[in-house]
Amino acid sequence: MTPLVIAHRGASGYRPEHTLASYRLAIALGADFVEPDLVATRDGVLVARHEAEIGGTTDVATRREFAGRRTTKVVDGRELTGWFVEDFTLAELKTLRAVERLPDLRPRNTRYDGRYEVPTFDEVLTLVEAESQRLGRAIGVYPETKHPSYFATIGLALEEPLLAALAGCDLPVFVQSFEPGNLRWLRSRTSRPLVQLVSATGRVDLVTGTGLRRVAEYADAVGVDKELVSPGLVADAHAAGLQVHAWTLRDETDSIEDTQALVAAGVDGLFTDHPDTTLEACRLQ
Ligand code: G3P
Ligand code: CA
Repeated sequence: MTPLVIAHRGASGYRPEHTLASYRLAIALGADFVEPDLVATRDGVLVARHEAEIGGTTDVATRREFAGRRTTKVVDGRELTGWFVEDFTLAELKTLRAVERLPDLRPRNTRYDGRYEVPTFDEVLTLVEAESQRLGRAIGVYPETKHPSYFATIGLALEEPLLAALAGCDLPVFVQSFEPGNLRWLRSRTSRPLVQLVSATGRVDLVTGTGLRRVAEYADAVGVDKELVSPGLVADAHAAGLQVHAWTLRDETDSIEDTQALVAAGVDGLFTDHPDTTLEACRLQ
């Protein structure tokens, strides 16, 4: 079966990541799902950014009025210096504009620097609902709670606003997290499909036979680093009742054959920065 094509941070190979333009293009290119990573503003609004630190993905460093907010924090064990989303109200964040995170790798995308706002999760849902209606196909959303324990410790839990936003949403949904505790809490509150993320440098114990059976107690899929994928892992996950979604394909590092090897291994979904290339590789399989 053809795997789901999940647009990683939108069509982030072609537009600054986590912008409505990036999600809109991903849908136009045929993606089945768009993937917003979610963090929270000072006033508790979920917005799409990959990190709490927003210096690399917005023009905040050029804004004199926010110079005093530059600071150093430890987020999940990493010391980071910059500007943090939780120190900005939504109104302040909305005055910023997105920039390409990887200008050296993707110089063509810098032509869009300064054009797009940071979208709220509600705005992402509204876009996907409108595009689903317009195109007559159900496009899904695949939100990730980013650093949920960190946000909880500063009084900005991500889970309740996420479930509130999804309450009236008829779109296909997967909710993903690297934190098992976060997913277990969500499992107790929602029947939405949940995805345990596993990085090659992280909780690889979760993708052993025993680990997968434990994950199946609270999740419906594993979202695994593509380096971890093998036919054996996919077979073990399927035996445990879990789908396997692999991340992340990008034109700069992955060939069509690399994509096809993941499909041949039996994965059920593919995260990609370039949805059109991934769809083409699947079609040619
Ligand atoms: O969510 C799957 C994949 O996106 C996890 O990695 O760091 O891009 O959020 P990251
Ligand atoms: Ca993600």
